[in-house]
Amino acid sequence: MVFLCFWALTLVACCTTSLAEASDLSHLHPPLWDESPGQFSDFQVKNNVYIINAWVYPQRMGMYKILLNQTARYFSKFGPENEQNILWGLCLQHGWQYNTGRLVDPSRRTSCGYESADPLCISVDSWWADINYFLSALPFLAAVDSGILGVSPHQVKLLPPPKDQMKFCYDVASCHLTFPEKMNKWNLFYQYLQSPSSNFDDLLQHLWAAHTSSLEGISEHFDDRMAYYYKPEAEFGKNWTLAVEYLAAVRIPTTMIRVHESQKGLPPRVLLDTDVAPFISDLTYFQNTVLSVLNILCSVDQMTGSLSLTLWKNVMKAQIVRKLVLDLLDYFIVT
Ligand SMILES: *[C@@H]1O[C@H](CO)[C@@H](O)[C@H](O)[C@H]1NC(C)=O
Ligand SMILES: *[C@@H]1O[C@H](CO)[C@@H](O)[C@H](O)[C@H]1NC(C)=O
Repeated sequence: MVFLCFWALTLVACCTTSLAEASDLSHLHPPLWDESPGQFSDFQVKNNVYIINAWVYPQRMGMYKILLNQTARYFSKFGPENEQNILWGLCLQHGWQYNTGRLVDPSRRTSCGYESADPLCISVDSWWADINYFLSALPFLAAVDSGILGVSPHQVKLLPPPKDQMKFCYDVASCHLTFPEKMNKWNLFYQYLQSPSSNFDDLLQHLWAAHTSSLEGISEHFDDRMAYYYKPEAEFGKNWTLAVEYLAAVRIPTTMIRVHESQKGLPPRVLLDTDVAPFISDLTYFQNTVLSVLNILCSVDQMTGSLSLTLWKNVMKAQIVRKLVLDLLDYFIVT
């Protein structure tokens, strides 16, 4: 009897903790999640075409919200509450960019993005916003193309930014034309996602392949934006894109809680002229360490002419090594 009671109590305790955890997840949502469109009918409709302005934060976030909602069913076999959806990574990173002031007009020629005037505006002069376009619009339009969002490819159009329109694409057809390789990689990911026998590791492989393909050759198109930032921020941006290649090889699971925890290591504001890691006083020890590690990683990459990346990719082909690196990263994040 005592034994049974013990087990009953343990069960109750277990269930309440997991429930408490589950209901906690909404605190991990990116800024303005509840205000962002969660279905196509929330967007403007013209002649049966949904018009999305990806240069307004809630609308760009809305693309992620629809994507996460509609792909939830493919991730339910890996865990409850859509927490295991690996598309959270892109979505939460965009939230981090918004939260940390990285989507505003860095040239200050317009009030785009600034709290007092136009807080929801995403500036086409923001380097982070431009790069993120290829990690939001492309995965979204490829998902439309794959049929998993329930609308047809000619039913969705994105609006162009106020300048440099030629640097972006706006619908399924034109994105396929301009960025065929990138769109194909995303299509492959969604194809694999829909196969009933999909496993988590291979999903990650497809996701990271699409992610790195989306970034390939893009940063160069927006190099002129770097002039608007102080050197430490410009370097952090460049170093971050390089670091992503190393992270991709590890196939970091970009699930909700893990990404949220990792983001505590990213600088919470745009870096200034006087910022020298690991001595930035208003950044945490974790954030200073991440910047220093990026610094070392990029120096090594430069010194070896990216031979270090080739080597790293080869070593990471072994699942057991990836697991080891992941465990080390987890240890680093938790301590
Ligand atoms: C998807 O969206 C619908 C309607 O907005 C909502 O009822 C449902 O709970 C969402 N599903 C997930 C997994 O977020
Ligand atoms: C970025 O990496 C370079 C070396 O390639 C280094 O000089 C610079 O300090 C790094 N900056 C940050 C913010 O990590």
